Amino acid sequence: MVYVKKKEARPAPLPLQHLAVIMDGNGRWAEKKGWPRYFGHFRGVKSLRQMVKSCSRWGIPYLTVFAFSTENWKRSSIEVSVIMKLMSRSLTRYQQELDRNQIRLHVLGNLEELAPSVRNIFNEMVERTKNNTGLKLIVAVNYGGRQEIIQAVRAISRAVKEGQMEIDNITEDHFYSYMSSSVFPPPDLIIRTGAVSRLSNFYLWTAAYSEIYVSDVLWPDFNEAELKKALHFYTQTSRRFGAASLERK
Ligand code: FPP
Repeated sequence: MVYVKKKEARPAPLPLQHLAVIMDGNGRWAEKKGWPRYFGHFRGVKSLRQMVKSCSRWGIPYLTVFAFSTENWKRSSIEVSVIMKLMSRSLTRYQQELDRNQIRLHVLGNLEELAPSVRNIFNEMVERTKNNTGLKLIVAVNYGGRQEIIQAVRAISRAVKEGQMEIDNITEDHFYSYMSSSVFPPPDLIIRTGAVSRLSNFYLWTAAYSEIYVSDVLWPDFNEAELKKALHFYTQTSRRFGAASLERK
């Protein structure tokens, strides 16, 4: 049996609605220089700022950054508190920049478990930027894909229990509508830096058909040229969402 690729014209550049980034390698970047791990997080904010600017300038509608996972609480209390302080300080520091560039902030994850000072600044910034019409910047903080699925299961079970839904009527679309990330389009492209090729509990449901680009570059060194490489990779892919790509001869 010989399999040949179906001949078809490559479509025009793929529309990229939603880019998501797992910013990995901060700790290793700092350790390589003999510095404490958290120095890498400081430097990581610089890369993040650059990425937000580029996506905003290029008209990418949605950008998600995985800033703090539900598993990141297992890190040392010093590192956790540095990341928390860094997030709140960066949001405060760059609030005018967000406004100037019409960037709207969204949060994905459970803010309830964060210190009130950090939670408040996230809530304030979401409120402050809610009328901005440019890039939607989604910060995944205290976020876990499994937890998001469980929260949807709970909500849908409640609806069944209260007689608002029949078990047999639960479809994929129905289920998805109970997930917090369903208000955004699924990510088209997920970039993971730091030469690690796993999802680490990120967007588990919605990443089902995302393209994944793994970069060897550590997040603090991930610049616009590296982002262009990732976008180039994306434009070369042929997205079929499970449809056939091979035909028998
Ligand atoms: C992963 O690198 C990085 C993090 C867990 C934290 C990233 C957070 C920021 C850069 C702050 C973001 C700020 C805002 C306002 C959203 P790692 O420490 O896991 O790297 P390693 O693999 O080298 O250990």
